[in-house]
Amino acid sequence: MMSSENRSHFSASCSSITEEARAKINLALHVTGQRPDGYHLLDMLVTFADHGDRLEFMPSPTDEFTLSGRFGGTLAGDSGTNLVLKARDLLRTAIGPLAFPVRIHLEKNLPVASGIGGGSADAAATLRGLMRLWGATLPEEALAAVALRLGADVPMCLESRPLIARGIGEELEPVPELPAFAMVLANPLRGVSTPEVFRRLAEKNNPALRLAPSRPQTADWLAAIAAARNDLEPPARELVPEITAIAAMLQANGALLTRMSGSGATCFGIFASMTAAEDAAAALHDARPDWYFQATETVSGGA
Ligand code: C5P
Repeated sequence: MMSSENRSHFSASCSSITEEARAKINLALHVTGQRPDGYHLLDMLVTFADHGDRLEFMPSPTDEFTLSGRFGGTLAGDSGTNLVLKARDLLRTAIGPLAFPVRIHLEKNLPVASGIGGGSADAAATLRGLMRLWGATLPEEALAAVALRLGADVPMCLESRPLIARGIGEELEPVPELPAFAMVLANPLRGVSTPEVFRRLAEKNNPALRLAPSRPQTADWLAAIAAARNDLEPPARELVPEITAIAAMLQANGALLTRMSGSGATCFGIFASMTAAEDAAAALHDARPDWYFQATETVSGGA
């Protein structure tokens, strides 16, 4: 049963709210240590694509969740594993009676368990969307704490702008100088278990990222990123040999720089222009129509 307060919200705001859940790209990821609880300490340069999942929120007599999109069929709709439903439930607990029932629709365009933070971005978009729909106010730190309980990458996805992320991903520093990049995201559609990749790490105490604080030129940034690493790439390549093949395909199609994002298996290629990126994505799709290739421009720090 809806309370009278819930009913008034339902009738007052029948329009829906949409939120983009942008793909998260780890331009560099250094593993610098491990906490006593097992979580790894990371030093990352992160940016976000103008491509991702899309979520729609609207008042409803009862809670509902629906899915569509290329990867909608691969996702479970139960609140034990689905980060959208976990985010809804955690935020509702934090907010209290204001949190009336909602219908949430997720258009799942990003491959699942693929190192570009699809689930984390969905959770962050749910927090943003429901805060708006419920007209809720929560101190920034309280919202960040809810985000971190949902996963190490959720706080950065709440921001969805270029960042340096440290700790386990919760210490965030904006990088306003980072330019937009023309990019192709490439995934052989083999899901990767993040804990398994971390378990296979041979070395957990690697040097921190060394990025100069101000590098306004794209070429300078490319050189700085090329000099950095993704420490999770060697163990992920052991688990999914296609990562090596797909990185080589990006290179052969003109990428200036290729690397794996997160714990994989998605790799990105940075191209000289969006035309070059779109041409490469089309050629790669022709070569492997069963894999995932997406041209996208990343957000710039100054946007
Ligand atoms: O926080 P999240 O649920 O995304 O993490 C998934 C798993 O990845 C964790 O259970 C942990 O095994 C591993 N992980 C880690 N160190 C991090 C982030 C994730 O060891 N900083």
